[in-house]
Amino acid sequence: MIVFSDANELQAPFAKRIKEKLGDKLLVGTVGSITSGKQANQLLEEGLDVVLVGRMFQKNPGLVWSFAEELGTQIQVANQIRWGFGGRPAAPKERKL
Ligand SMILES: Cc1cc2nc3c(=O)[nH]c(=O)nc-3n(C[C@H](O)[C@H](O)[C@H](O)COP(=O)(O)O)c2cc1C
Repeated sequence: MIVFSDANELQAPFAKRIKEKLGDKLLVGTVGSITSGKQANQLLEEGLDVVLVGRMFQKNPGLVWSFAEELGTQIQVANQIRWGFGGRPAAPKERKL
C-alpha cells in the first residue's frame, strides 16, 4: 500500500527519493496537485529537475505568468506576446545614408 505523506504534492516524495539515488544520471520531475509558484519553486530547489502542472493550466492558461508574478520574477516570451502586456517599443528612427 502507498501512503502519501503530503496529499498536496502526491508524487513529489517519490520523485525526490529517486533523484537522491540517481543524481545527475537522469532528469527527474514530478506532477500532481502543484498549485502555486512557491510550491513548484520549492520542489526545484529541493533538487527536482522539472515540475509539471496539469489541471491548474486548464483553469488558468496564463499560469506561467501567475507563477512568475507570485515569485517576483520575469519570464521570457515571444515579442509579439509581450507587446500585448507591455506595449510595443518605438520603431527605430530612419537613418540617413
Ligand atoms: C483532462 C486530463 C487528462 C489526463 N490524461 C492523462 C492520460 O492520458 N494519461 C496519464 O497518465 N495521465 C493523464 N492525466 C493525469 C495528468 O497527467 C496528471 O498526472 C494529473 O492531472 C496530476 O497533475 P495535476 O494535479 O497538476 O493536474 C490527465 C489529467 C487531466 C486533467
